[in-house]
Amino acid sequence: MGGIGNDETFSLKSTVRPLTGTVRSNPQPEPEPMNDPDKPEVPSGEFTRRQFILTGTAGLAASALPQGAGAQTTVQPTTAMQPVLTKIRMTVNDRPADLEVDTRTTLLDALREHMHLNGTKKGCDQGQCGACTVIADGRRINSCLTLAVMHEGGSITTIEGLGTPEKMHPMQSAFVKCDGYQCGYCTPGQICSAVAMLAEIKAGIPSHVTADLTKNPGLTPEELRERMSGNICRCGAYSNIAEAITEVSGRNP
Ligand code: FES
Ligand code: FES
Repeated sequence: MGGIGNDETFSLKSTVRPLTGTVRSNPQPEPEPMNDPDKPEVPSGEFTRRQFILTGTAGLAASALPQGAGAQTTVQPTTAMQPVLTKIRMTVNDRPADLEVDTRTTLLDALREHMHLNGTKKGCDQGQCGACTVIADGRRINSCLTLAVMHEGGSITTIEGLGTPEKMHPMQSAFVKCDGYQCGYCTPGQICSAVAMLAEIKAGIPSHVTADLTKNPGLTPEELRERMSGNICRCGAYSNIAEAITEVSGRNP
């Protein structure tokens, strides 16, 4: 028997491939054996990294399928999926409006889809852009964020109710005069918002930037920017919009 330190010739069953070699007193690192394409890279019963990933991915895909998938089941509509219709009455642009709507209908969709008042625009449909601004009982709101049924008995003013091409509202005239728009998509919301915003200031309602809550805030540039910040203009016509609002404010302080 030779111990370590003595030369010994032996045959070693490697887990990769059989090796035949000689152990020397100071063994030098031997080069990695090349993989033999005709032989498995790992012993049977062990996973390669590739097999592990493939198995895991297949398991994930299977778990993501709905229960019973593949069994050709038919989903029956439940009563919760059926629309619930209700009748509502509002005053829209000084006229009575009787509607029968799905209780989930937003005020914006009621105006556009049921009453065909398409002046009110749908931009983001989630309260971010202000394109859908209308005046509800004297206050400006995002009509995409409120349900039509919540305005039963209420009064709504849209851009169509502010003025007509023949007889424009002063704010509409000022937007034309000051070139307060480019594509015009945000303009109905901007004008409704500006009209109600001037009424807020006149009523002494403070904003986030109002310094003295005991005084009427007045239409400073800071107040204007803050109060109109919910109306986005992708064309960037802000300076002209501000000019138009200031001009109307000067006429009707
Ligand atoms: S569509 Fe209502 S806020 Fe953008
Ligand atoms: S004019 Fe185009 S988004 Fe305002």
